[in-house]
Amino acid sequence: MNGHTILLGGIGGDSHSVGLTILRQSLSAHGYKVRYLGTQNTVSDFFRMAGMANLVMISSMDGHARYYLREFPSFKREFKTNGTLWYLGGNLGSGNGSERDYLEMGFNRVFLNFIDLETVVNMLARDLNGTEAAASYPALWEQSLPSTRSLPGMASDALLDNETFESSRREVLEQWSTGSGARRLAGNAQFLLRQPSFPRIQAQARMGQSKMLVQPRSGVALIGEQIILFKNFKRAGVKVLSYQVDSLTRNNNYVGAGEAIRESRVSGTSTINGFPVINHGVNGLRKIAEQIHVPLQTRHSTRDPRLLAEISYAGGVTSFEGGAICYNIPYYKDYPLAESLRNWQYVDYLTGHYHKHFGVVLDREFFGTLTATLIPPCIAIVTNILETLLAVRQGVKCLSLGYAEQGHRFQDIAAIRMMGEMTSEILANMGYKDVQLNTVFHQYMAAFPPSQNRADELIRNSAITAARSGATRMIAKTPVEAFRIPTLTDNITGIELIHSGLASAADCYVDEARVAEECAVIRREVESIFESIIVCGNGDIAQGVVTGFEKGFIDIPFSPSVHNRGEVMTVRDVEGAVRFLSFGNLQLDRETREFHEDKVSKRRRAEGILSRLYDPVLVERDVMQVASCRYDHWPLCQ
Ligand code: 5AD
Repeated sequence: MNGHTILLGGIGGDSHSVGLTILRQSLSAHGYKVRYLGTQNTVSDFFRMAGMANLVMISSMDGHARYYLREFPSFKREFKTNGTLWYLGGNLGSGNGSERDYLEMGFNRVFLNFIDLETVVNMLARDLNGTEAAASYPALWEQSLPSTRSLPGMASDALLDNETFESSRREVLEQWSTGSGARRLAGNAQFLLRQPSFPRIQAQARMGQSKMLVQPRSGVALIGEQIILFKNFKRAGVKVLSYQVDSLTRNNNYVGAGEAIRESRVSGTSTINGFPVINHGVNGLRKIAEQIHVPLQTRHSTRDPRLLAEISYAGGVTSFEGGAICYNIPYYKDYPLAESLRNWQYVDYLTGHYHKHFGVVLDREFFGTLTATLIPPCIAIVTNILETLLAVRQGVKCLSLGYAEQGHRFQDIAAIRMMGEMTSEILANMGYKDVQLNTVFHQYMAAFPPSQNRADELIRNSAITAARSGATRMIAKTPVEAFRIPTLTDNITGIELIHSGLASAADCYVDEARVAEECAVIRREVESIFESIIVCGNGDIAQGVVTGFEKGFIDIPFSPSVHNRGEVMTVRDVEGAVRFLSFGNLQLDRETREFHEDKVSKRRRAEGILSRLYDPVLVERDVMQVASCRYDHWPLCQ
């Protein structure tokens, strides 16, 4: 053990932290003291702590490194960090500064593109050889952590009282000028009752009266363009549609969204990556709804979703995606759970209110995909269960539980089935009888293969897994996923591939005994994790979520959030199923742990990895596997 201190973190707006997570684990395994800053830091965050480190590693992923580092040289002159080495890496992008530029800025090493773990670790060891390890300054370190982290998170799952709701509502509707258009709930309800309903069409699919629903994503800047898209999807036989909301709106930047709408009008093409629901407002949405007559949903990942939910529902949308965990921990660096719980309680209360007072059933969907990367079924399922319980407490009557395919057919089928089964058992145990549960299968959501054949194969065969899992609905990918946001044509190609898969699904042999084995494993895991959360919240689900994350009783792999422990690591077994490489503080029983340990040690042996020191190399291989086409067929096991 060498004891050198490495300060590690990302810079800029990007929240993707898969690479950083792997590096963090690997450096710790090699005996370094890693001070981890997570994503979304500024130059000054690094300099504040650089004096405590032997080496600082900065990663920049979104191609804007030069911009984020513009103050680096002046900081370097101002702070005395003479003994500290500086590394810069990630995806620095071409045309954004050469290696020389960054070296001149004051970095000791620069990695313009992807570089494998072993190379970095060896280089580090050479560079630090002979230098004395920095002293550790635990108190200073604690002080410099994000301020909100240590705030006590008080939370309660109690039904909101109407007065609190009404007073928050006045503020919410004033967040932007279009908010007032959503005020009259009775009028909104009348409009909603005339719309085709997401809950109703899902009920038909669940009862076998129609096939599994196939849902594409779409979102453009302008109303007219959105109508054209939706009409074309409808013509292609699509039965449910959604607004994919743009990133400016997701970050509650409506001024920016407004500018983008104007730019898009002038340029004739959409200059943002989705549909700006808030700016178009209730009238814009109703205009679309009246022309389309297909059940509509809003999909996003918005930090404060309350106004978006208000306008969506008032505009005829009958399903709203998101939740306090799934739209927080995978997306934001420092969004306290107590705060996201309160925001989503508002959304759930509003959803329940439409049912209680006007008889309108609206669907709430959870993004169990989470960070999309090597997510073990039990983590996705527990997240869905917790968000379901929080929602039904506020009066929600229809839920869609999400899970993203990982690539091992038996495990994926088992995950979808157990998610539906266990959530419905828990609801029944708690006395909720009139709640409609649906399951949603996401086609593979991590980095996609850049090869046309591979992408086609993935989409086609993933549809078979979805069909055999019994999911109510599946969310479609397209063959251009590795390259761009799909156009209408890309989406239609994807849907055709899916239909060709679905046509052969019934004839495909699935070893149900293998599915049952995976179901049994998942059941034990979900029961243990769920119970530990209920107990640590003293029976209150919301408090259980806050305390459970603090204690690491639930821990989402590859999350950028400081409110997530980040100690759980996952890896594929020899067949490709996702297993635990480290359990962090998950409260799993001994039999379950041994099961995972056994699967992982077989994988180590198969890959010739003799020391646990190299475990992160396995994770790296798995994270890169699909995007670099290093697999024989999709699914990886069937
Ligand atoms: N239109 C269509 N698809 C979109 N996605 C994101 N934004 C849009 C949009 N405006 C898709 C991505 C990815 C998934 C997360 O959503 O291509 O598959």
